[in-house]
Amino acid sequence: MTTTLEELRCRAQSCTACALSETRTKVVFGAGNPAAKVMLIGEAPGANEDLRGEPFVGRAGVLLDKMLLAAGFSRSENIYIANMIKCRPPENRDPTPDETAACGSFLRGQIAAVAPKIIVCLGRIAAQAMISPDFRVTKEHGVFREKGGILYMGTFHPALLLRSPSYKPDAFADLLAVRQRVASQD
Ligand code: URA
Repeated sequence: MTTTLEELRCRAQSCTACALSETRTKVVFGAGNPAAKVMLIGEAPGANEDLRGEPFVGRAGVLLDKMLLAAGFSRSENIYIANMIKCRPPENRDPTPDETAACGSFLRGQIAAVAPKIIVCLGRIAAQAMISPDFRVTKEHGVFREKGGILYMGTFHPALLLRSPSYKPDAFADLLAVRQRVASQD
């Protein structure tokens, strides 16, 4: 039986499976429409997300929301967003394999509960964990691969787009391709 998102959220709130639970302010479980056909997966909460308890609410999140809206998506309507790990790593370092493993059951539960048709991995860390360990975003972004009945695609992390805006057109084209796939499945 699939565990509901609310049950998973409750469990995550009191999770102490790794040391990040000792330094977090809030657990950042996920946000958006639980019935969305498209799920975005980021890396880990940053400082703003840790304070608010919501994914992608800092500068990168503002950019992500703008690009999503321009491509016909929004959290309130047709997107669900989660991160690989639910608690902020100190100094925004990359999550360790142990932390990612400790959080894995939450992400797997979210995928099972939302049952998206398409999963978009935002950035290298998520794409390497979800698509293939040697995934190169600059080379393989925008490519759809089917796994277990779900289409996976990796694209640029919005924080990278803030640092390197020249990737924005490619990242936007990836979102438009997602939009097109969703439309063709309707
Ligand atoms: N970066 C991420 O990968 N996730 C967030 O929620 C915020 C920044």
